[in-house]
Amino acid sequence: MTRVSHVELVDPSVYEAGGVPHEHLTALREHAPVHRHHGDPEAEAPPFWAVTRHADVVHVSRHPEVFSSYERLALFEEPAPEQLALQRMMMLNQDPPEHTGKRSIVNRGFTPRAIGALEEHVRDICRDLVGEVAATLEAGGEADFVRDVAAPLPLYVICELLGAPVEDRDKIFHWSNTLIGGSDPELQSSPEAGDTAAAELYAYAAGLAEARRAEPREDIITRLLQPDADGNELTGNEFELFVMLLSVAGNETTRNAASGGMLALFEHPEQWARLRADRALVRTAVDEIVRWVTPVNLFRRTAIRDTELGGERIAAGDKVVVFYASANRDERVFDDPFAFDVGREPNPHLGFGGGGPHFCLGAHLARLELSVLFETLLDTLPNIELSGNVRRLRSSFINGIKGMPVRQRPAF
Ligand code: HEM
Repeated sequence: MTRVSHVELVDPSVYEAGGVPHEHLTALREHAPVHRHHGDPEAEAPPFWAVTRHADVVHVSRHPEVFSSYERLALFEEPAPEQLALQRMMMLNQDPPEHTGKRSIVNRGFTPRAIGALEEHVRDICRDLVGEVAATLEAGGEADFVRDVAAPLPLYVICELLGAPVEDRDKIFHWSNTLIGGSDPELQSSPEAGDTAAAELYAYAAGLAEARRAEPREDIITRLLQPDADGNELTGNEFELFVMLLSVAGNETTRNAASGGMLALFEHPEQWARLRADRALVRTAVDEIVRWVTPVNLFRRTAIRDTELGGERIAAGDKVVVFYASANRDERVFDDPFAFDVGREPNPHLGFGGGGPHFCLGAHLARLELSVLFETLLDTLPNIELSGNVRRLRSSFINGIKGMPVRQRPAF
C-alpha cells in the first residue's frame, strides 16, 4: 500500500519549494490510482479521494450527474457559506442543466472564428511586450519574464476582449491577482483583501455592461449582452459574474503556461533549437507546454450519489479531487511522459480539463496567445536565457511562477 500523505500531495509550500510532486503522483498512479486521504483534523484537512490516472480523470469530468462541480473551488476545505453563495452563481461551479444554457450563450464569444479575429491584436501586444524586453536587455537593463511578458500578455488580451480602456489594466490586474492568490501571502494579504477585490471587480463589470448597453460596439462583450438566436440571454448579475470568471480563469492560467513553457525550453535547449529551425513545430509545442506545465493542477468534484471509481467505493458527499498534472504524465497514455517533446503528436493532455461540459472555454484563445508569443520570442529574442532564480507560486491549485529573471546570451 502506498503511503503518500495529505501534506506531500497538496501542501502549497511543497509546490513552492519544488513544483509538482511527481514522484508521489507516479506512485499513486501505479499503486492506488483512486486513493482515499483520511484528512488531518489538526491541520483542518478533511478527507478526500485523489484521482491520478488519465482515464479516471476523464470519467469524473464527463459524468457531472455523479460528480458535481458545486463546491469545486472549495478544493479541500469545507466552503465558507458566504463564499459558496457567490461561487454557486458562477458557471464553473454549476452542473447541467443549469450550466448548459449559460455555457451555450458564452460559447458564441469563444468560437475559433471569434478568437481568430483577435489574432492581430494579440500579435501587436506580443510585439510590444517582447520588443520592450529586447530593448531593455540591449541597453544593459534587467528583465523578468513573468513581470514583463507572461503576466501582462493575458491581462491585455482580456482587457481587449472586455473593451476595457488601457488605463484600467492595472486595476484589473490587481483584482484578478488578489482573487487567485489564495495561499500565497505575497499576492493576497488576507481573505478580506480577496472579498474587496471581488466586490470591486463586480462593480467594474456592472459599469462595463451599462456602458455597452448604452453604446453597443463591435466586440465580444457587446455580443454577450445580446440574446442569442434562441432568445437566451445572460440575466440579473450573470454578466458581472462571467466577467469575474474570465478575469480569473484567463489570466493566471495563461501566464503560467507562458512562463512554465519558457522555463521548460530553458531546461531543454535542444527543444528550443528545434523550434528555431522549424516554426511549424510551434503548434504542437503549445500543447506540449500545456501538458508539461499543467497550469491548473487540480479541481474538486463532489459525489452526489454512491458510485465506484477505479475499484473503490465512493459515497455520496465524498470530495473527489482530479489531478490533471498526474493524468498528463500517465504512462498508460503518453509515450515517455517525462520527456518534453515539442513535436509530440498525438497529445491527448487534460490541461484544459477532461472533456465534458466544463472543458476550458478559453482553450482556443490560450493556444492563440501562446503560439503568437513563442513565435514572437523566436523572432525577436532567440538568444534569451535564464539569468537567476525561479520563484514558484505557493499553491497546489495553480502551478505557477512568480519571478524568472532573463537576459540575452552574449554573442561571442
Ligand atoms: C475552465 C484550464 C485559459 C476561461 C477551465 C478548466 C481548466 C482550464 C482545467 C476546468 C475544466 C473542467 O472542469 O473540466 C486552462 C488553462 C489555460 C486556460 C490551462 C491556459 C493555458 C483560459 C482562458 C480563458 C479561460 C484564456 C478565457 C479568457 C475558462 C472558463 C472556464 C474554464 C470560463 C469555465 C468553463 C465552464 O465552466 O464551462 N480552464 N484555462 N481559460 N476556462 Fe480555462
